[in-house]
Amino acid sequence: MTMSDDVKTTAHAPLSSDARARMEALNADAKHLSIWLRTQANAPAQQPWFKETNLAQAGKLAEGRVAAGQMKAVPHHWKWSEISPYLDKIARIATEADVPPTEFADRQQFLLTNPGLGGRLQVAASIRCAVSIYNPGDLARAHLHSPNASRTILSDNGGYTTVEGERCIANRGDLILTPNGTWHDHGNDGSTPVVWIDTLDWPLMEFLDIIWLDEDMPGAMGVDNKRQQRASAPDGYSHDLYGVGGLMPRIATRGRGFGKGVSPYFHYRGEDTREALLALRGEAGDPREGIAIGFVNPVNGGPVFPTLSYGAQLIRAGEETQFKRETSSTVYVCISGRGETEVAGKVFKWEENDIFVVPNFLWRRHVCHGPKDAILYSMTDQPLLEKIGQYRAQGMDAHGKVINIVE
Ligand SMILES: [Fe+2]
Repeated sequence: MTMSDDVKTTAHAPLSSDARARMEALNADAKHLSIWLRTQANAPAQQPWFKETNLAQAGKLAEGRVAAGQMKAVPHHWKWSEISPYLDKIARIATEADVPPTEFADRQQFLLTNPGLGGRLQVAASIRCAVSIYNPGDLARAHLHSPNASRTILSDNGGYTTVEGERCIANRGDLILTPNGTWHDHGNDGSTPVVWIDTLDWPLMEFLDIIWLDEDMPGAMGVDNKRQQRASAPDGYSHDLYGVGGLMPRIATRGRGFGKGVSPYFHYRGEDTREALLALRGEAGDPREGIAIGFVNPVNGGPVFPTLSYGAQLIRAGEETQFKRETSSTVYVCISGRGETEVAGKVFKWEENDIFVVPNFLWRRHVCHGPKDAILYSMTDQPLLEKIGQYRAQGMDAHGKVINIVE
């Protein structure tokens, strides 16, 4: 089966020019009443999600009024070797700036823009990703906001995020959460730059027009007034409270911050993640995912945010997964090793720190040629789609037979 087998043209026959002209004249007449007389059919996909595998519509504005402005994300690969020099360049400008680092900018980062989305600051329908660098001495003042956010740490060590008073020291492979409604600040008090990926559900909140941000944290102190939190929880507090697998705390399930349905465990350590994957290396694994684990809310075993979930997977040397497609979109980052992912007929050959996105509906599979195993981290809007009854998934076995995984 190829990616174009089930592609069909779905365009409706246009109205005759005379009818269209009369309708448009009527529309012009009715415009002051804020109504629109329907002249065209819906432009978005008019066949099932699992048949929308072509990329012909990617990046194009939908035609017609009903979904005006609708665009399609495309699969894309950001190679670390190409994008990381810009981190060094912006860090150098910040270092040489004629103002102190803390005054230069709250963030020194670039955002990843999906080429199909016309320059919007998003990699998929509901996901924003940025790559940030913090020079020694940099800090981002304490704040909270309605979007859920996370940091996936790429630098070896140094830097921190303080969340609700818990100071999370950033080491490579760590996942640090700042759920909606939690006060947090970031900084680098080490001697070398710190780099991480920020992932947020910002575009979804933007669409819903519920973005807000508060930078006026009561009692926050620091090098400048009201800029940083005091560490009010011991180091490793998340782990102390929630970190013992299979044992759920009875005393600490209240949550932290005022966000609803978000994980109170903020700091998932890269070393723990690697150990958990390697401990499962001898298992058969998932034919479409390899050895896969999820970062979960330890209070209920669910996703860490209502909107986004995070995972890690080991693609073993020589492993070639089967194809899978989902109604959700997924962003990947390679934490170690190298390999390739085929998505909608494109092949992304990735290595450490490379980032790539697999938008919804598209077939994909992962391959690790070796000699070392590869570890991928992933971020997906699957939990959001599950909540609105829209999560579906299909797999394809080695013989090309399509099976429903989640109908
Ligand atoms: Fe933030």
